[in-house]
Amino acid sequence: VNIILLGPPGAGKGTQARRLVEERGMVQLSTGDMLREAMSSGTEMGKKVADVMARGELVTDEIVIGLIEEKIGSAGGNGFIFDGFPRTLAQADALGELLARTGQTLGAVIEMRVDDEALVRRITGRFTCGECGEVYHDETKPTKAEGVCDECGSTNLKRRADDNEDSLKQRLMEYYKKTSPLIGYYYHAGALRSVDGLADIEDVAGAIAAILDQPA
Ligand code: AP5
Ligand code: ZN
Repeated sequence: VNIILLGPPGAGKGTQARRLVEERGMVQLSTGDMLREAMSSGTEMGKKVADVMARGELVTDEIVIGLIEEKIGSAGGNGFIFDGFPRTLAQADALGELLARTGQTLGAVIEMRVDDEALVRRITGRFTCGECGEVYHDETKPTKAEGVCDECGSTNLKRRADDNEDSLKQRLMEYYKKTSPLIGYYYHAGALRSVDGLADIEDVAGAIAAILDQPA
């Protein structure tokens, strides 16, 4: 089954997507990760989007739709997890067309609800492993040994350029203006499910599992 994880910056989309990859063999398609990869490998596109991303604005629909189009052709194991995509109505329409064209369907759209105050705490405390991509938090998910990734032992732990209060403000504005209309869009399509993203990581995972395991 293909699913969308929908929610504001810091809602926990990436954290839950990684679990679904591990536990269910699903394939995570994070446009944010793809864009950061393009930046670190220094491609033309990566250079073009770096400033936009650092400011917390959305990159163009054309670029992200192109990224998804490249990946979606080959069937995704036990289903794709769209993480951070779609983010505009135009992207949602494009995804619908891409899925239809490749004979695939959309299972659930899982909205992760978290209030703004919690988002600020989550984003300002986040760091990730530069080697394996594991996501941590200073308070809620620290590494077991200081400065060392639990998963792979790397000491290359990083903070994102857009994880500061100014960029976060912009990211939240973009979310409410351009992305939150997708909640109504998918509600009317009968696909929307919501989970309490404020619960702890295990409980959120449980709520998502319950949605995925519920008979169609
Ligand atoms: P993107 O990389 O998608 O970032 P985002 O949407 O801002 O989401 P985040 O990665 O910040 O948060 P998350 O929900 O994954 O939370 P996480 O699991 O890490 O996009 C970045 C930029 O790329 C955009 O601003 C834009 O410029 C561009 N872009 C990307 N896609 C685009 C698109 N489709 N169109 C246009 N532009 C696009 O968790 C956050 C923290 O909280 C972590 O520290 C984690 O450990 C902790 N945490 C997680 N869950 C819990 C919990 N339940 N309880 C306590 N702590 C928790
Ligand atoms: Zn690691």
